[in-house]
Amino acid sequence: MALLRRTIAGALLVTVAASAQMAWAAGKSTSSSGAIERGRYLVRIGGCNDCHTSGYAMAAGKVAEEHWLTGDRLGWRGPWGTTYPANLRNFMAQMTEKQWLSFARTAETKPPMPWYDLRAMSSEDLRAIYRYVKASGPRGEAAPAYLPPEQEPQGPFILFPQPPK
Ligand code: HEC
Repeated sequence: MALLRRTIAGALLVTVAASAQMAWAAGKSTSSSGAIERGRYLVRIGGCNDCHTSGYAMAAGKVAEEHWLTGDRLGWRGPWGTTYPANLRNFMAQMTEKQWLSFARTAETKPPMPWYDLRAMSSEDLRAIYRYVKASGPRGEAAPAYLPPEQEPQGPFILFPQPPK
C-alpha cells in the first residue's frame, strides 16, 4: 500500500511538473515531424503513460514504445466506481484532429483521469499529442468498460479511499 501510495503521488507529481513545463513551452511553433517528436515528449512528461500504458509506472518507464498508450486492465476503483485507462492508440485512430481538440476542451471524464490538465494545454500541444499518438497507429484491445460503484471488478484494481474531509 505504501508503494502504491508513492506510485500515485509520483504520477501526480509528474503531472504537475509536466503542466509547468508545458506552460513554459506553449506557443513554440513546430514542423510536422517536430510536432510528432514534441507529442512524444509531452506524453512522456505529461504522465499519460503512467496510467494508459500497462506496467509503465512499476517498471520506471521501461516499457517498449510500441506498447505505449494501449490502455490498461488495472482498474481504478473509488467512490466513482471503477474506471480503466482507455486505449489511446485506438481512440485517436478513430478521431480527426479537430474532434480531438474539441474532446480535450470539453470532456469531463471520471477520476483519476486528469481531464482538467488536458484543458490547461495549449492547442499546439494538444495537436502534438494527437499527431504522435495517431502516427503510432492503433494497437491492442479496448480497456475494460466502466463499472458502477456497487459492481465488483473481476480483474485487479487500485482502491481509492474516500478523501479526508
Ligand atoms: C492517473 C491516471 C491517468 C493519467 C495520468 C492520465 N489518464 Fe487519461 N484516463 C485515465 C482513466 C482511468 C480514464 C478513463 C476515465 C473514464 O472512464 O471516465 C482515462 C481516460 C482518458 C481519455 C478518454 C478516452 C475515452 O475513450 O473516452 C483520454 C482521451 C485520455 N484519458 C487521455 C490522457 C492523456 C492525453 C493523458 C496525459 C496528458 C492522460 N490521459 C493521463 C487515467 C489517466
